[in-house]
Amino acid sequence: MTAIALNTPDFVRHQAIIDWVADIAKLTKPARIEWCDGSQEEYDRLINLMIDNGTMVKLNQEKHPDSYLAFSDPSDVARVEDRTFICSEKEIDAGATNNWKDPNEMRAILNDKFDGCMAGRTMYVVPFSMGPLGSHIAHIGVELTDSPYVVVSMRKMARMGKAVYDVLGTDGEFVPCVHSVGKPLADDEKDVAWPCNDDKYIVHYPKTREIWSFGSGYGGNALLGKKCLALRIASVMGREQGWLAEHMLILGVTNPEGKKHYVAAAFPSACGKTNFAMLIPPAGYEGWKVETVGDDIAWIKPSKDGKLYAINPEAGFFGVAPGTNTKTNSNCMASLSRDVIYTNVAMTEDGEVWWEGKTKEVPDNLINWKGKKHDGTEKASHPNARFTVSASQCPSIDPNWENPEGVPISAFIFGGRRADTVPLISESPDWIDGVYKAATMGSETTAAAVGQQGVVRRDPFAMLPFAGYNMADYFTNWLDMGEKLEKLTKEHGTQLPKIFKVNWFRRDDNGDFVWPGFGQNMRVLEWIINRCEGNANAHATPIGLVPTYEDLNWTHSDFTKDNFNTVTYQDKDEWLKELDSHKDLFDKLGERMPKALIDHQAKLRQAVESGM
Ligand code: GTP
Ligand code: SPV
Ligand code: MN
Repeated sequence: MTAIALNTPDFVRHQAIIDWVADIAKLTKPARIEWCDGSQEEYDRLINLMIDNGTMVKLNQEKHPDSYLAFSDPSDVARVEDRTFICSEKEIDAGATNNWKDPNEMRAILNDKFDGCMAGRTMYVVPFSMGPLGSHIAHIGVELTDSPYVVVSMRKMARMGKAVYDVLGTDGEFVPCVHSVGKPLADDEKDVAWPCNDDKYIVHYPKTREIWSFGSGYGGNALLGKKCLALRIASVMGREQGWLAEHMLILGVTNPEGKKHYVAAAFPSACGKTNFAMLIPPAGYEGWKVETVGDDIAWIKPSKDGKLYAINPEAGFFGVAPGTNTKTNSNCMASLSRDVIYTNVAMTEDGEVWWEGKTKEVPDNLINWKGKKHDGTEKASHPNARFTVSASQCPSIDPNWENPEGVPISAFIFGGRRADTVPLISESPDWIDGVYKAATMGSETTAAAVGQQGVVRRDPFAMLPFAGYNMADYFTNWLDMGEKLEKLTKEHGTQLPKIFKVNWFRRDDNGDFVWPGFGQNMRVLEWIINRCEGNANAHATPIGLVPTYEDLNWTHSDFTKDNFNTVTYQDKDEWLKELDSHKDLFDKLGERMPKALIDHQAKLRQAVESGM
């Protein structure tokens, strides 16, 4: 067999990339190689290619200008955590919560899997920057993929295109990312609409900072800049270099006096980051403004004076569609007014998109996400159906969202999806308690990952599926950061970020959410900001500082004191059970578990035992 033509374009002058592309092509044996430049012409061409082969549908161009809908294979709809691996040299460095395999063993497996896996297909070379192009905090990746869906999605989600090569020059550093849907095409075979493989591998080599993904074309499994690079690999880099890579939204909130604070919040997958980041203050909050910096990932670095500065390394939103409507998130709906790639939502007869919760009425004659007539026996859109859209289209986008210096963080918020136990809001009295609250966060599983839904599991820092190293070491990294910041903030008279825990998802005896959520979360956010400013009341309880009903602002709200009690009461039995499950997590995390947190658990248990 003759070697495939590389056809390296003039804009690529980086020999290591050229050699690597040649190596991977030799292994994966694509029919051709295409060096992506990120142009509109390239985007349109790939969209049309997918329309021709049935992966994408062109939507009603009047209602949805330049927007398209992709239907995935029904077996390829979410992240696959049990097929996601951290292949550190030693098993202990991946830790108890990650899947681990010896890197040599994994390389042998993957060599076999990738051998000829792109036969008949095009291998696209996709250069991208996580973080503003050329800024000192950005990291560059190059993804080789046989999926045109990945190429067009990466163009929205990252700074993708030939300008990346200008930044890289002839020898700049990049994270190599290899992706294949894992379904070679025989000579006489036509492409299937959404190829994938039953056997999936999402693999990270933290030492060599490489990513290899096989068998899935969906979201975080396939858009390798997102969870794989910007969280799993970046968390490893951050630990080595003294910064944090977090599964957090970043928002700015300005009060009527014009004082602005930024907060970063970690909620597990499909637990409200996008919605909180785009919050519209309710009636009665005239003069308040909330602006969006990011909805999923934050890179956070300490400055010399002890403040933490956060950037959003992404350029777009890959957000959950179901539940999104003009009432719950009108900023998001406005962002979707044009130029969107939808995946696995339903479609009306006249080419409009629909999903559960978009409107009260279900339109007649829907085509469901499986491309079949919707007959009401199953959901019309997949619960993890998503939109992909440029962040710049968001009406609430913050003027500083691309500032390479980042934005200063006043508070961290952690929040899971809990039907009981965890109150609406509580504040940590100190950094260690904050790290403890984040480390022990529990949440009901959602459709964002394949597997059982609605079961409470521990999801420390909302990073359970995304930490690229041992979770116990990750806790230590946060504790160390706190110590360092405490010293610096004292020296410079700056303020350490406060840490809060929220739960929008408490349910009543009928199983209904009690807290109205969405825009109403502003009432909690206001209290948080006022706490940072030192002008709101809080009351000590065994599990943190909390507001009473009177401490929150209820202008234009019909939320009663009884309702408030339902979302805030603390139950001793529930909390003893809760604290025991924290202990189970710590036991599971093993020998590297920081003593400070183990001791804190004992202290809290004592406090609940005697004082709740
Ligand atoms: P990932 O993109 O998976 O990381 O998720 P995310 O944290 O950005 O979640 P998102 O904001 O997309 O919300 C997921 C689901 O939770 C959607 O169906 C929302 O409508 C719903 N949701 C968001 N905020 C609230 C809230 O305050 N209350 C209630 N009841 N539901 C909410
Ligand atoms: C998540 O699951 O947290 C997501 C979607 O944000 S994905 O990019 O698929 O990971
Ligand atoms: Mn996420």
